[in-house]
Amino acid sequence: MTFTATRIEITPTEAALGAIVTGVDASLAAQPEVILQLKQAWRDRHILVFKNQQLTDDQLLAFANYFGDILQQPAYIRKGETEPYLPPLVLTLANAASEESSVNVAPNYRELLPHIDHDWLPTPSSGSFLYGVELPENGPDTYWVNLIQAYEELDDATKKQIAGLQVRHFNFYGKYRDEYPEPSYAAGRSVEPGERVATHPLVRTHPDTGKKVLFLNAASEVDIIDYDPVEGAKLIERLREHIKQPHFVYQHHWSKGDLLYWDNQATAHYRPEFNSNATRILKRVSIRGSRPF
Ligand SMILES: [Fe+2]
Repeated sequence: MTFTATRIEITPTEAALGAIVTGVDASLAAQPEVILQLKQAWRDRHILVFKNQQLTDDQLLAFANYFGDILQQPAYIRKGETEPYLPPLVLTLANAASEESSVNVAPNYRELLPHIDHDWLPTPSSGSFLYGVELPENGPDTYWVNLIQAYEELDDATKKQIAGLQVRHFNFYGKYRDEYPEPSYAAGRSVEPGERVATHPLVRTHPDTGKKVLFLNAASEVDIIDYDPVEGAKLIERLREHIKQPHFVYQHHWSKGDLLYWDNQATAHYRPEFNSNATRILKRVSIRGSRPF
């Protein structure tokens, strides 16, 4: 077994989150000190960017396993099918122009609004890895929002207003996952058969650092439990505008071989629509998380 020999360097970006990591070959077994350093940097910076990786699916899974168990997404029934589909542990995210579009699970080239991976599960993923396999020269970039800073910069009256509130998160792919509804506020709406929805604190506490997080997406239907429907809609709209502010954001311009590992307990992410003729293929692996509190 070969170990990573080069000295690793972790350089924080100038943005509100993110650090660039060099000197790590994620295909090899790592020294204990390296993993501990990476975990600390991840807690501090919420997203790590490993450059110039070359990974098989098994190597990607093995590296991700240093940080926890891999999340198995639950089976669901795809539109037009009757048998449940169990997503693989390594998800290929590809748009229609790519050869791998048969295993497409993403809403292809359309805009992805700020969302938190798996917020629609009772135990959302703690983090996700995304590995760039094939990427168009001119983007799109992906953007991550620091939801700890977003919470900290709320005024005191808003912090008081949202303390203790519980929010229902609907799966933003909708009932059949390839439908992609407009984000909305849906007070008291019923859950349709087969639909995924989970209730979480609007202000969650980061399980590792104890910091408070504004745990809100801007991509799916949500509602606040036991809250006035009109006031709830206003509050969510205001908070969704708040988290879109550019100074909370790290903007990542992709290169082939980039491996990103981010904290779903502290960030949301989004990307703009891009040219549907461009080929863009990424692989994603997520780590199992715990119940938000
Ligand atoms: Fe995502």
